[in-house]
Parts: sequence; structure tokens; C-alpha cells
Amino acid sequence: MLRQALLQMSKSGRVRRLVETAPISRSVVKRFVPGSDVSDAVRAATELTGSHRLVTVDFLGEDTCDITQARATRDAYVTLLERMSDAGLTEGGRSEASVKLSAVGQALGDDGEKIALEHAWDICQAAQQAGTTVTLDMEDHTTTDSTLSVLRELRGDFPWVGAVLQAYLHRTEADCRDLSGPGSRVRLCKGAYDEPESVAFQSRADVDSSYVRCLKVLMKGDGYPMLATHDPRLVDIGGALAVQAGRSQGSYEYQMLYGIRPDEQQRLADQGEKMRVYLPYGDDWYGYFMRRLAERPANTAFFLRSLATRG
Ligand code: FDA
Repeated sequence: MLRQALLQMSKSGRVRRLVETAPISRSVVKRFVPGSDVSDAVRAATELTGSHRLVTVDFLGEDTCDITQARATRDAYVTLLERMSDAGLTEGGRSEASVKLSAVGQALGDDGEKIALEHAWDICQAAQQAGTTVTLDMEDHTTTDSTLSVLRELRGDFPWVGAVLQAYLHRTEADCRDLSGPGSRVRLCKGAYDEPESVAFQSRADVDSSYVRCLKVLMKGDGYPMLATHDPRLVDIGGALAVQAGRSQGSYEYQMLYGIRPDEQQRLADQGEKMRVYLPYGDDWYGYFMRRLAERPANTAFFLRSLATRG
């Protein structure tokens, strides 16, 4: 219930204004988003790679309805990739970029997919020059077909482009089969949006079982599975499935979000596992932040308590 309410609020302009202007928000948001500009992203990526973690950087923004904004987001990614390359952070894919297609134009009417493809192509070109990769984030289920179609187009020129698949969707096991071939990079997560029963599993147990089924497909396949979860049980199962599939360390990777379970991130990295941290930066943090609150009631309680105390 609370999860659903928070996810609905993540689409509300009124709540957005309230949360964005509350003085306490900044300090709470900082746990999940290290800063607003590209220097903050480069600084945080330098710290993370210094402790043997890998990084994927996301310039915050989504559901853009303005072509100028979509172009500005494309440009921000190109600058980010140049800055990370200059700082030596992209060598061997140590730091890559994660992109939401709705931030680069996917939601711009009939031409949206074409515009998003063109902008994503430019970002991939910049990533190639920087010696690294790009992974396409996955948003709500109404965008899944379009995102996978853009992925197919991009992979024609940049075979290393990766995508996110969400275990809560009924379709995902089949999508994992389609994307388990050589060179394919799939980031498997549970899924963070408010989805109806007609397309998504609703109970935690069903989502977790689906995650394991999907992971089995990816681990047995010829691609590169990326296990995006903080769930200790799924992390353990992932390790066991990798052994079962005869995979060695480095032929798959773990991924977690910036600020969530940092000790576990470090433990996995220290064990020689590839561990990548999803690092968001920018001013447009509202939607991302609300999804993080929705994932964990304790985060919401903490945030509301902070609002009440300071207010
Ligand atoms: P679960 O929610 O069961 O959490 C397991 C444990 O992790 C919790 O008990 C808690 O200890 C900790 N935890 C999890 N979330 C927390 C939080 N917000 N705050 C504090 N502790 C927390 N989703 C999507 O729909 N599209 C996408 O493109 C992506 N991309 C993505 C990339 C990466 C690298 C990650 C790690 C995740 C995503 N996600 C995503 C989000 C994902 O779908 C999911 O909502 C979260 O990862 C939470 O699910 P867990 O698998 O961690 O399990």
C-alpha cells in the first residue's frame, strides 16, 4: 500500500514541489545522490573506483516532454563521458553510463522513439570514444517494447550496449532468453515502478522466484549477466548459479545503487567479484528518490521524521 502510494506520488507535481523545496530533503537525498553537477559525479566515481568498485553513472531526469531538454540531456552525457575519460575513469569499462530513454526524448509523441534513438546513438558514440559502454535503463512497462527496439538498433552499431530487464514483469523470462546470446549484456533487477497485475507479479515471493528463473536463463546463456539487487538471498543464489553454470569471476557482475548496502558492495569487491555501483547525479532527483523511498518503508519513516522535526 505504502509502496503504491509513494510510487503514485512520484508522478504528482504538487507533492514534487513540497518535497523538492523542503529544506531537509537535500540532506536525505544526499545518501542516494552525491551531487548536482558533473564534478560531483567524477569525484564520487573516483572514490568508488579507488575502492575497487566499478561504476555506472546516470544523469538524473525522466519523462522529458521538451526536445530542448532531451538535447541538453544528450549533451550532459557526452560531457560526462569526456570528463570521466580525461580522469582515467573509463579505461576497460571501469565507469560506464546508464541512460533512461524517456530522458532523451522517448516520450515526445510519435517521433519520440526515433529522437531517443538518435540521442542514445550520440551517447554511445561518446562512450565508444571514451573506451566504455552504455546500459539502457528500463522504465514502466508501456516503454519496454520501444526500449528493446532501440536496443536492437543501437546494437547494430555498438554491439556492447546493455539493457535492464525487470523480473516483476511476466514477459521477462522470455526476454532473457532472447537476450542471452553472445555479447549481450543484461542487468537484471526486480523492477521499481507501480505495475498492474495484468503485466506484473505482485507479491514479493513471486517476484523473487521470477528473478531466480530469469537469472538461471542468463547464467546458462552466452551473454554477460549483471545482477542488480541488494537482496542477500539473491546475491547468494546468484553466486551459486554462476558456479553451477561453470562461470568464473568476471564473467558476470553484481550491481547495487549508490548509498545502499555499501559494506556489502565492498565485501563483494574485496572477494574479487566485479561489483558496479549505479551512481546518479543531477538536480532532477525527485522520481529517483521517491522510488528509493518506496523500496523501503524505513527510508520513508526516516524522511517523514526528519521533515516533522525540522518543520
Ligand atoms: P529488495 O527491495 O527486496 O531489497 C533487499 C534489501 O536491500 C532490503 O531488505 C534492504 O536491506 C536493501 N534495500 C533495497 N532497497 C533499498 C533502499 N531503497 N534503501 C535502503 N535499503 C534498500 N529498476 C527499474 O525498474 N528499472 C531500472 O532500470 C533499474 N535499474 C537498477 C540498476 C541497479 C544497479 C539496481 C541495483 C537497481 C535498479 N533498479 C531498477 C531498481 C530495482 O528494480 C529495485 O527496485 C531495487 O534494486 C530494490 O530491489 P532489491 O533487488 O534490492 O530487493
